[in-house]
Amino acid sequence: MHPMGTRRPRLATALSEALSAYHVPTGVHSRRVGSLAREVGVVLGLEGPELECLWQAALLHDLGKLGVSEGTLSKPGPLDPNEREEIECHPAIGADIVRACVPGAAAARGEEFERVAVGILEHHERWDGSGYPYGRQGEEISTIGRILGPIDVYDSMIELRYYRPRTFRPDEALAHLREGSGTLFDPAVVPAVVEVIERSAARASHGASVDDAPSLDAPGEPLA
Ligand SMILES: [Fe+2]
Repeated sequence: MHPMGTRRPRLATALSEALSAYHVPTGVHSRRVGSLAREVGVVLGLEGPELECLWQAALLHDLGKLGVSEGTLSKPGPLDPNEREEIECHPAIGADIVRACVPGAAAARGEEFERVAVGILEHHERWDGSGYPYGRQGEEISTIGRILGPIDVYDSMIELRYYRPRTFRPDEALAHLREGSGTLFDPAVVPAVVEVIERSAARASHGASVDDAPSLDAPGEPLA
């Protein structure tokens, strides 16, 4: 049996599948972020339940887009203020869904779910306080939130987003992460994210399975 029991992995997988069924590109993005996050967590020395929580939060970080209209998620071109406001609700919606799924969980397991929920809630917070929904900064942001931020931004920059005129190349996205280290992103996390992405690119160039490797031709400033 899984060290944390079977309920969480099954639930995470089921919720992830629901999100994929609702909006395929978000589902694909979430699986890539999950894969990268697990590797980054290992580089940072996470293990056991901590690593499991990171992976689940990564897989479900955009779960709250279930509460965003498909028209907004797939809108070509820039979002208007109302649409932006709608999309910026997704971290809180996602955290609420996860919390609502475990009302009867045993206390210890509920604590793990809460760590996942907080990671989801904080994946758009930024080290310097410029993120949302709360503008938390530095170590006010959970470890999971601080790890997910740069990974999500990287993958969002290189993938096709409807509201951006183009995708960014991986080297452009990596440069954005390095430039944002200590401002947008936790400077203790960025080197691990860069290491994992570069390792993944090296594997791809050697013809290994690239499963969740990022596309070389993807879109703009990541909103979500
Ligand atoms: Fe997001």
